[in-house]
Amino acid sequence: MQNFKQPINTSEAVSLLSRNEVVALPTETVYGLAGSINSEEALKNIFSIKERPFFDPLIVHISSLEELKSYVSYYPEEIVHKLSKAFWPGPLTLVLPKSDKVNDIITSGLDTVALRIPNHPKFLEIIKAVGPLAAPSANKFGKTSPTSSRHIIKEFEDSVPVVDGGDCEVGIESTILQITKSNELNILRPGQVTAAQIADVLGLDVGAIKKTYEGSVAPGQLKYHYQPNKPLALVNRSFNKEDTIAKVNDESIKTAEVIELSLDPQIFARQMYAAFREYSKKETDLLILPIDKQSSEDWDAINNRLKKASTWDFRI
Ligand code: TXA
Ligand code: MG
Repeated sequence: MQNFKQPINTSEAVSLLSRNEVVALPTETVYGLAGSINSEEALKNIFSIKERPFFDPLIVHISSLEELKSYVSYYPEEIVHKLSKAFWPGPLTLVLPKSDKVNDIITSGLDTVALRIPNHPKFLEIIKAVGPLAAPSANKFGKTSPTSSRHIIKEFEDSVPVVDGGDCEVGIESTILQITKSNELNILRPGQVTAAQIADVLGLDVGAIKKTYEGSVAPGQLKYHYQPNKPLALVNRSFNKEDTIAKVNDESIKTAEVIELSLDPQIFARQMYAAFREYSKKETDLLILPIDKQSSEDWDAINNRLKKASTWDFRI
C-alpha cells in the first residue's frame, strides 16, 4: 500500500481520481472522502475505507446547476434557483428525486439523490477536471468528522491521500434539505444554513419547512454518530468535575478533561470536532463539555451533533 504521510497537490489528486482511486478533499464544512461517481470501484472503496454500511447514502458534489439537472428526475426550477443563488457554493445539500444516471451504490437504492456545490476552491477545481464526486465525511463510520488534513492522515494511518485545504471554516456538515415531488421541504440534517434562512429566501413562512431530524430517523441518520474516541458528558457551565465523574458512575472512569469552546455558535461549530480529537489524545477517561442548553436556531446543528456524539447529558 502507498504511504501518504504528506498531503498531495490538486494535480496529483486529479490523476488519482481519474484512475478510480479515492482521495480526501477539503470542503468548507468538513473534509470529504471523494471518488468519481462514474466508478463503481471508487464508490465501493469509499464504503470499505470508511467501514461504512451500504445503507447510508452518499452526497454527490457538483460544480454547477447544469450538472444538477442531469442527475435529477424532478427539477423544481424556481426553488432550486433561489436556493442555489443564496447558498451555493456553500453548506447546503439538496435531496431530489434521482435520474437513471445516478448509480444505486451512491443512493443506497433510494429513489432520491443528495447534491451540493461545496465552497472550496481546490474541491471545485478538481470537480471541473474530473467531473462530479461522491464524498462522505472522511472519517471512520460513526466517528468525528475531520476538519483538517492532519485528522485524516492520523485516522487512516497514512493510507489515504489527502489534499490540504486548511482548517474547515464551517466545521460541521452541511444542512440537508429534501424537496419532494409535491415541493414539500424537509430538513433531514441541520447545518449552518437554517430553516429560517431557507424560508426567507423562498418567501415562505418558517412553519412551511419541516424538520424531520427532530422526529423519525432519516436514512443514514443514526442515533449515535460523530463520536469522539473518549466518552463525552454534556454538563451545565456551573458544573463540578468530581460530581460529574460520580454521576457517570462507571468504575473505569476516574479522570476527566474539560473541553473549553467559544460561546458563539459559529465559532463553537468550527472548534468542536477538532477539540474532540485533541482532548481525546490525553490520558483521561472522560471528556466533559460545559455548554448550557441552547434553544435558538443558530444552535440547532450543534445540538443535533452533541446529542449523537455524547454518552451522557447531565444538563438541566
Ligand atoms: O458537509 C457535508 O455534507 C459533508 C461534506 C464532505 O460535503 N459530507 C457529509 O457526508 O457529511 P456524510 O456521508 O457524512 O453524510 C451525508 C448524509 C448521509 O448520512 C445521509 O443521511 C444523507 O447525507 N443522504 C445522502 N443521500 C441521501 C438521500 N438520497 N436521502 C436522504 N438522505 C441522504
Ligand atoms: Mg459523516
